[in-house]
Amino acid sequence: MSFDLHAVVRTEVRAQTPYQTGPESRPGLRVKLDANESPFALGEILRGALAAELARALGDVELQRYPDPTAREVRTLLAGDLGVEAEQILITNGSDEAIQLLQMVVAGPAASLAIPVPTFAMYAIGARAMGIRVAEVPLAEDFSLDAARFLDRLRRERPRLVFLAWPNNPTGNLFDPHAVEAILAACAGRDCHSLVVVDEAYGHYSGRSFLPRLGEFPNLVILRTLSKIGLAGIRLGILIANAEVVREVNKVRLPYNVNALSQAAARVVLAHGDVVAQHAAVIVNERERVLAALGAMPGVRVYPSQANFVLLRTHRRGDAVYADLLARGIAVRNFSRAPQLADCLRVTIGAAAENDAFLDALAAVLGPGGDT
Ligand SMILES: Cc1ncc(COP(=O)(O)O)c(C=O)c1O
Repeated sequence: MSFDLHAVVRTEVRAQTPYQTGPESRPGLRVKLDANESPFALGEILRGALAAELARALGDVELQRYPDPTAREVRTLLAGDLGVEAEQILITNGSDEAIQLLQMVVAGPAASLAIPVPTFAMYAIGARAMGIRVAEVPLAEDFSLDAARFLDRLRRERPRLVFLAWPNNPTGNLFDPHAVEAILAACAGRDCHSLVVVDEAYGHYSGRSFLPRLGEFPNLVILRTLSKIGLAGIRLGILIANAEVVREVNKVRLPYNVNALSQAAARVVLAHGDVVAQHAAVIVNERERVLAALGAMPGVRVYPSQANFVLLRTHRRGDAVYADLLARGIAVRNFSRAPQLADCLRVTIGAAAENDAFLDALAAVLGPGGDT
């Protein structure tokens, strides 16, 4: 047989490298700070007062039936929390799926999207696979968004879609809200019509949101996720926009995209937002402590963060620092070879003991002068 796989797989797909996840579970891994998850096992906390409620909710799921196709109850709960209508919400299989649906909505021979770089990899990966041209606009040296440069590129490119992660991943900073507003306005002007996605995956840790601006900008799409607040395992993403936008995106969604167990777990946890808020406050405190400790560590440049992770640049080769940390059982995310991120590592803020283990290991790996 002489089947030629290359003859059927699209050129764009062949040219791709898959999204890289961390080292996952490997022997000797003590501390996992590589995927921006929450360190708090909600399941364990729920085992106390809320255990029975969660068990009952999961037990009541009729597994022989398809799930509620539009996750109506989850949307209704969220609508109450967020102060929007349920018709303004679409529930997805992680916000990754929301990103993919938005790309599907705009894809076509002439389609392009614009992103600042570095940013979350999935904006470009999915787009390229669909043949959407990706206009990348480099961030400034301090990772701020150069609004004039971005606007200029928008005028020339006229993309159908813009993704702004707010706070940005992997840099951790919040772009100037005035720059985001200027982009939103320019993308709903005479010359440019684009959906502007403000991805608030880390919004619980920044305390900032563009949600109150939905009425002002018809092209604004906000993404949220439960992944960063203790429920990465259930895969539940949230798209919020004006109802007209939601109606269009909903047309390309698979009928039963969010399974019934995830919907049931989300319903229980969303009814206990106080637990989530308490956890976020602990992480924010820890983030400030880790930022201060890294700021005082020789051989390290640390960048400001409003998220549940911190980006740092080491004087020593980042690849070597990453490998030495891993050898000590500490997993962080290695960006050393990514454009603009030479020798950069991203560390998720974990529980206090995990953060201490990371800080001790980093100090040991870098040595007293920071560059041994
Ligand atoms: C900015 C940003 N958006 C979206 C996602 C995807 O999250 P989810 O787990 O909801 O698919 C991530 C994950 O790291 C992210 O950093």
